[in-house]
Amino acid sequence: MMKVLSVLLITIAIIRSITCSYAQLQPKKPSQYRSLPSLREQARILDAWKERRLSRVPALLKKYDVDAWLVSMREHAEDPVWWSIKNATQFAPHRRTVLLFHTDTSSLAGRPNPLVWVDNTGEVWDELRFILMQYAPLRIALNTDRNIAFSGGLHVGEWLELYEQMPQEWMKAVNEPMLAVEYIATRVPGQLEYYRLMQETVWAMIEEAFSERVIQPGVTSTVDLEWWFREKIQARNMSTWTQPRVSVITPDSFPGWAGTDDIIQEGDLLHVDFGVTAMGMNTDTQHMAYVLRTSEGETEAPSSLAEGIKKANRMQDIVLSQMKAGQTGNEILQSSLKQMEAENISGQIYCHPIGDYAHAPGAVMGFTNLPEYVPVLGELSILPDTWYSIELYAYHFVPERNETLRFRLEETVYWVNNRRGWDFAYGRQEKLHLINWPTSAVHGAKLLVQS
Ligand SMILES: *[C@@H]1O[C@H](CO)[C@@H](O)[C@H](O)[C@H]1NC(C)=O
Ligand SMILES: *[C@@H]1O[C@H](CO)[C@@H](O)[C@H](O)[C@H]1NC(C)=O
Ligand SMILES: *[C@@H]1O[C@H](CO)[C@@H](O)[C@H](O)[C@H]1NC(C)=O
Ligand SMILES: *[C@@H]1O[C@H](CO)[C@@H](O)[C@H](O)[C@H]1NC(C)=O
Repeated sequence: MMKVLSVLLITIAIIRSITCSYAQLQPKKPSQYRSLPSLREQARILDAWKERRLSRVPALLKKYDVDAWLVSMREHAEDPVWWSIKNATQFAPHRRTVLLFHTDTSSLAGRPNPLVWVDNTGEVWDELRFILMQYAPLRIALNTDRNIAFSGGLHVGEWLELYEQMPQEWMKAVNEPMLAVEYIATRVPGQLEYYRLMQETVWAMIEEAFSERVIQPGVTSTVDLEWWFREKIQARNMSTWTQPRVSVITPDSFPGWAGTDDIIQEGDLLHVDFGVTAMGMNTDTQHMAYVLRTSEGETEAPSSLAEGIKKANRMQDIVLSQMKAGQTGNEILQSSLKQMEAENISGQIYCHPIGDYAHAPGAVMGFTNLPEYVPVLGELSILPDTWYSIELYAYHFVPERNETLRFRLEETVYWVNNRRGWDFAYGRQEKLHLINWPTSAVHGAKLLVQS
């Protein structure tokens, strides 16, 4: 009896772990526009996150066996690291700004970390020499990486200046690219809550844009929709890091830097790729929609289109089942491609870290032009407490059109410690958005067209 019971419990646990691995899939209710706190309150929150992040620096330096991390820049030629350590009310590193991160031990214990100089007299170098002489770090890291942008932010002029100003022994500095990568990529508690609000607002925008409230078939263009998104983002007091890209999907439309330039028609399969920026964070989302042939009485999308979305959802599941902290992007990419082959799914994977930047530092899994192996960025490992954008497409044959189309989806995931699995920050698309003009039409589309 006990045996039967325990087998039963294990079976239930396995089924649960398969079926309940993601709490948030397609949200049940329409998404709502969410407001963010006042700018003053945001600044308070951002500074608390920054303090939390800075408090981890000594442990980070020790992890990579570095005693000090020296970052030097001039106003308007920032090291990317600066944007992730600045105070909420700082908008530029003035004059020459020099930061010295330390391990909080020996002579610098109890001093601010980083030590910050803002200087235009050259005094900083005397003081820095004095500090370093006392501190006597064995390994100083400089951001001189050749491949990873976030770790290569020391401008050549700054390097030449340092080289002249510092005794040679300090200039046997090391390049430790993971310092910047891990510092910038690691999330802190509290960020997800606000990210979710941003992500729900993004969904609310897509649900509105991909509806008869905004699209009138035969009249509205993909470019109208792109500018609708831009204005809407601004109206929500957010900004963006990319021009929204709206496409009518055809066999030729490949993921790229632009949407298509089309008047939207009944029967079109639509796609959007866009993101918003707020509170030092960025989103990156792709959804698809179908314009019902309402004039022919169509009330549902052809089932083959729904199957295409399902196939892309299955690819998301495959990637998430392979992704584990400590594995490299290329390992995950290759095992995911293998699993797709076993399931007879063809498509492409090109996932990336997301957070302080939409294309944030860390391991990538594929690029659109590097589908199977990515040098450098693909060789990095997935880090704990980081977020990823699961970006991919599945090929699916659509018999109604006698065409194979790409079903392109993108959504952010985060690692849930107590479930030991990834979850979507807000949800993922499992059903096409439908544009149902004119049966339930309201006046929004007409307004858009007139303006
Ligand atoms: C942020 O503000 C605090 C308090 O004014 C200051 O000590 C610190 O140096 C500032 N950080 C940077 C990166 O300038
Ligand atoms: C945007 O900011 C303005 C000015 O602070 C405010 O009146 C408005 O309510 C905000 N809009 C949203 C959608 O939060
Ligand atoms: C694999 O997929 C292709 C194209 O979608 C299809 O033609 C073929 O029959 C499938 N093969 C198997 C073994 O399912
Ligand atoms: C479907 O497309 C293929 C090639 O793209 C073509 O050879 C074939 O004749 C088409 N079938 C129909 C029914 O139009």
